[in-house]
Amino acid sequence: MGLYRRGSRSHDFENKGRRPQAGFEKGSWEMARVFSGVQPTAEVPHLGNYIGAFRQWVALQDQHECFFCVVDLHSLTVPWDPKLLGQRSRQTAASLIASGIDPERSVLFLQSEVAEHTELSWILTCVSRMGELSRMTQFKDKSRNLERDSIGTGLYMYPVLMAADVLAYRGELVPVGDDQRQHLELMRNIAERFNRDFGETFPVPEPYIPAEGARIMALDDPTRKMDKSSDRPNNLIWMNDPPEVVRRKIARAVTDSGREVTAGSDKPAITNLLTIYAAVTDRPVAAIEREYEDKGYGDFKMGLSEALIDFLGPFRSRYLEILDDPGQLDKVLDSGAARAKEVAHQTMQSVRERIGLRRS
Ligand code: TYM
Repeated sequence: MGLYRRGSRSHDFENKGRRPQAGFEKGSWEMARVFSGVQPTAEVPHLGNYIGAFRQWVALQDQHECFFCVVDLHSLTVPWDPKLLGQRSRQTAASLIASGIDPERSVLFLQSEVAEHTELSWILTCVSRMGELSRMTQFKDKSRNLERDSIGTGLYMYPVLMAADVLAYRGELVPVGDDQRQHLELMRNIAERFNRDFGETFPVPEPYIPAEGARIMALDDPTRKMDKSSDRPNNLIWMNDPPEVVRRKIARAVTDSGREVTAGSDKPAITNLLTIYAAVTDRPVAAIEREYEDKGYGDFKMGLSEALIDFLGPFRSRYLEILDDPGQLDKVLDSGAARAKEVAHQTMQSVRERIGLRRS
């Protein structure tokens, strides 16, 4: 099948070279268990998801044991359409394969098809504290404009389900974008508390956040992150945006004062565009700055649009090709769920035993 792209790129990461604590099977990051997830809240992911997360996932699968999950249960934390959800899950799985996830090397599956996630989530709910959940900025942001009586409890418990996702696999390394940093901190606290109270059970997961591109900003406002739940359609580029839409969005993207194409704290908009340019062409920012040394923002934006179109074109055709063969995608997801279940089931056996869920 021509569906799977092999290949990887290496980057600098905050946690490169760090080792998990002693006592777990894997001695070092030379071979770690990796877990990460993406919500199926849109037809396809946006460029921020790719640069902040999937790009690392693709590279990690060369060396590590990876579990990548379409977290459909997380999508229930905000209102959803039952007619669309399944379709979105399938499209998100197809997007991951089109981005370079190879289901022969990585376990790719839907969260709701492995019941251990919800079982462990309840147990970890009983290990988590209201104080720590109330401090989550994502919860505060998403519930800010809602009356207390109408804030969904799922939104509040969301990070506990995330902890269950990773811990069900005894995940060690969690590649995410910067917006998940606080959730990872909470996950670590829950794992440590569980280990302290019931005996060493889980490795304490390490965040794996890229040094560049961990927070891709909105094209129309470089002070806010690129965000699929925003109501400003020009804030982001969807992975399946056609060329004319990419050109239009980049042409409208906010720039900074001055005219030099250089990165820096005084140039948040150009820095963001340079980061995107570098990620999709796999070149260093400095090389792109040099290329546009004597040119202005207009040329730079034109170059960026074409680079994005070149990058998104192959994604788009692979994505459509994968969706065109639903039988094959079902096979991939069935075998992913079966492999995931084996591992999660084993973890749950020891969790149940340790916390006393047994007959005597
Ligand atoms: P989600 O679906 O919002 O996003 C998927 C991944 O994309 C990253 N991301 C970004 N990176 C850079 N710039 C941006 N503007 C940007 N927007 C999103 C996110 O950081 C994420 O890595 N809660 C998670 C999904 C999840 C999960 C997990 C992750 C559920 N369980 C267990 C890791 C481990 C989420 O909603 O991601």
